[in-house]
Amino acid sequence: MPEKAETKRLVKRIKNLPTVPGIVQKISKMVENPETTPAEVGRLISQDQVLSAKVLRMANSAFFGMSRKISSITQALIVLGFDVVKGLVLSSSVFDMMKKSMDGLWEHSIGCAAAAGVLAGHLGRKDAEEVLLAGLLHDLGKVVLLLQLPDETAQVLAVCETKQVSFYEAEKEVLEFTHGDVGLWLAEHWNLPVPLAEPMRYHHQPERAVQAPEQTAIVHLANIIIRARGYGFSGDRFVPPLSRTAWEMLGLKDSDFRGILHDLEPKLTVMED
Ligand SMILES: [Fe+2]
Ligand SMILES: [Fe+2]
Repeated sequence: MPEKAETKRLVKRIKNLPTVPGIVQKISKMVENPETTPAEVGRLISQDQVLSAKVLRMANSAFFGMSRKISSITQALIVLGFDVVKGLVLSSSVFDMMKKSMDGLWEHSIGCAAAAGVLAGHLGRKDAEEVLLAGLLHDLGKVVLLLQLPDETAQVLAVCETKQVSFYEAEKEVLEFTHGDVGLWLAEHWNLPVPLAEPMRYHHQPERAVQAPEQTAIVHLANIIIRARGYGFSGDRFVPPLSRTAWEMLGLKDSDFRGILHDLEPKLTVMED
């Protein structure tokens, strides 16, 4: 962790973040109790009509690719699971902030979610929805940076331009911590499960993930695919370097890629409309 007093002050400002949606905390508490039923959580979320409409819209969006329509929050909880719905509530709550914070970041995030979902599907993972959600949330630390430290983030963006380095490199120079660190603080604060927290923290250093290395490797690769393809904007114009460890762990062959891109493209096109 950073040592400079100035950096500590910045970290403190971020950690005081008052944006945790109350409902996410309530859901976290409810889910901790093993007796909680989907219907109970469903009732809680449904009390907020705007929120439940947003969650249902996302659950039914092209990139989840559900074969049947999800018509209630309770059904979403049964089909997608508690963690995925909690993540959807969370991302719906920050959705508007994200749209306002950095032009193109929301598009980058849903693109990465779609790519992560397709990769997880190709790898035959049973937790494809959760991996997709990790893709959606991966750069959430950037939203917090933009909201809490707008001047410093403007500096980071300026360094990207003048030195022609990535946002991640520029963060290290200006802030001494990155949106991955901020992502982890958020994930801890919100009690997000490890398979969401580790990709948020380590999608730029996938070899460091220990508890959810494959999910992290998938989000790492999804981020690269979506940057290379060009979809949205995440702060700089570079395609991040591919981690050999992550690539080898996933065991994908170059030839698998054609199928992956083939499946991804229609999802992106639908969302671009
Ligand atoms: Fe990132
Ligand atoms: Fe990203």
